[in-house]
Formats: sequence, C-alpha cells, structure tokens
Amino acid sequence: MSVFEQKYFTIVDNLRKQRDIMSSNQHNHSGTEVPFDHFDPAVMQIYKVLQVAKRTGADPEVTEGLQTALQYVRMRDDYTLKCTSAESDACRQVATLTQSLDWDDLKKEGKTLFGLETRMLTGASEGQFLKSFLSAQRARRVLDVGTFTGYSALAMAEALPEDGVVVTLDRDPFLERLNMETFAACPQGSKIQIRTGPALETVRKMVTAGEKFDFIFIDATKSEYVDYVKIAFDEGLLAENGTVVADNAYRDGAGYLPSKGTPDAARVFGEFVANNANLHKVLVPVRDGVLVLRRLNEVERDLPAVKNGEGN
Ligand SMILES: C[S@@+](CC[C@H](N)C(=O)[O-])C[C@H]1O[C@@H](n2cnc3c(N)ncnc32)[C@H](O)[C@@H]1O
Repeated sequence: MSVFEQKYFTIVDNLRKQRDIMSSNQHNHSGTEVPFDHFDPAVMQIYKVLQVAKRTGADPEVTEGLQTALQYVRMRDDYTLKCTSAESDACRQVATLTQSLDWDDLKKEGKTLFGLETRMLTGASEGQFLKSFLSAQRARRVLDVGTFTGYSALAMAEALPEDGVVVTLDRDPFLERLNMETFAACPQGSKIQIRTGPALETVRKMVTAGEKFDFIFIDATKSEYVDYVKIAFDEGLLAENGTVVADNAYRDGAGYLPSKGTPDAARVFGEFVANNANLHKVLVPVRDGVLVLRRLNEVERDLPAVKNGEGN
C-alpha cells in the first residue's frame, strides 16, 4: 500500500468510525432524530403514520404495531445484506468518503456544479448485483453512465478480468478530480477510465467512433434513459449478447404511483421499456429497482435476430 493509500484509508476510516457512532445513536450533533429514509414509499407511509400516531397519542397497540412493521423492514434489509457478499474495502471506503462529505456545502461553495447527495450512491447490494451479473456474462468492456463518487465503477471493475475496462461518465469536474484520487488509491482503479462532460454527447461520440460495450449501467439524468437505451440497442453501442441495467426504475415510487400532470421520467421510461417488443426485461427489486434489459432474441433463443432500429 502506497503512502497516499495509507493516508486516504486512514482519513476515511476515522470518518467512518465517527459516522458509525452517530448512526448507532440514531441522533445527529444537534440531538435531533436522524430523518428516516427508505426507497419504498409504502415504508415511508408507515413511518409518516407512526409520527401521526405518536403526535396524537393514538392507542399504544396502533403505535407499537407500526413500530413493529418498521422493525420488520429493517430486519429484512439487514437480512438482505447478510445474505449478500460483503463489499470490498475499497468500495466501503468510497461509501464512507461519500457520507463524510457535505454535498450541500460543496454546492454552495461552488465546488460542485450540480446538486449531489449521498443518497445517489448505489451501495452494497446493488454493487454486488452488478458484479454478479457482469461476471456471469464474462463482460470485458463496461460503460458506467453517472459516476458520482465511483462506487458502481469500482464495484464493476472488481469483477472484470485484468484487461477489462470500465469507462465512467459524469459531467461534474469536481467529481473528476475526486475520483482520479480515489481510483488511483484503489487496487482495481487502474481499470477505470473517466470521461467528463454531458453523458449523452459523450455516448453519441462513442457510437461515431465505433466503441462498443458488453455491459452498460445507466444511472444519470432520468429523462435521458430512453435515449441511452435507444443508442445502446438501435445504434450499436451495446455489443452482441450485451446487457443494459438501468437504475432507479421505481424512483421512490414515482415510476408506479398515480400522479397528476406530467408523468415522472421513471414512469415514461418504464412505459417505453414495457412497450418495446424487442427487449427482454426484468425489473429486479434491488434497492430503488433495477431494470435489466437484453435483446429478446438473445434470451428467447427460438426467435430470429432483430436488426438495429427495427420494431420500436
Ligand atoms: C445517481 S448518481 C450516480 C451514482 C453512481 N453510479 C454510484 O454508484 O454511486 C448520478 C450521477 O450522474 C451525473 N449526471 C447526471 N446527469 C448527467 C448527465 N446528463 N451527464 C453526465 N453526468 C450526469 C451526476 O453528476 C451524478 O454524479
């Protein structure tokens, strides 16, 4: 381990210890309760009703019942992680570093161009899902659309062979500087190439240059998901037998809950996927929902091959 790595990991480990103490108390510095957060809107609904029950002095049976329901959710989440391979030290350090940064302050100080938040991080169970899937497919070239602090890029790099590469895209120059340091400090970081700029433009240039990827993970602007998928499947960015995984298919429920006015981008994307007859799709309820997309004829082997752009 280089001196830089030792320094980096020591700083991050200290931050992690502080955070663990904070979270075990379930209180922040000012002594107020840490806000409850969950991707499942049904769980958030239980939490909200519990607050009402406490505030209005509801029957203890009601309050306790709601508390038990939330405990079950926590137990299920813990069990999911227990039955999932542990993240690598490097991924854990990245997660800890992400949690330790004050993203609101960085935005206010003009260091980041866009609003970023810890919650964007893919994390342990989704990271393992990506690793499992792309290693099973024997992917070599991976595209990661939306780097943030590099968790998904790093997790996927760990599952690639020595000559494998993850090209990761983000538009925020602050993240480029941060991630260059992170990847330089991580054992598998040398497999990762960073490209900074609007991802849709970068992806279009890749198609023109004839670049292809075995596995594409989409985790950036939701309103551009349809474009990424079209470019992947119809314009040849996705190699033969390739897979696209799109994150946040549920998007805290915006994908499937009734809404007034303009439908959420997640819902628009879900409709597009559901109506696309050439795609094999499965929505896996990992974290905020991941949509796994493959060419239908590469899954249903008795179907004829479909040419780029046909049938949408
Ligand atoms: C949800 S985060 C990605 C999380 C990351 N995959 C991880 O594993 O932690 C989304 C990222 O996409 C970037 N992003 C959003 N829209 C973009 C765009 N149009 N072009 C490039 N980057 C974009 C944001 O700056 C942010 O860092």
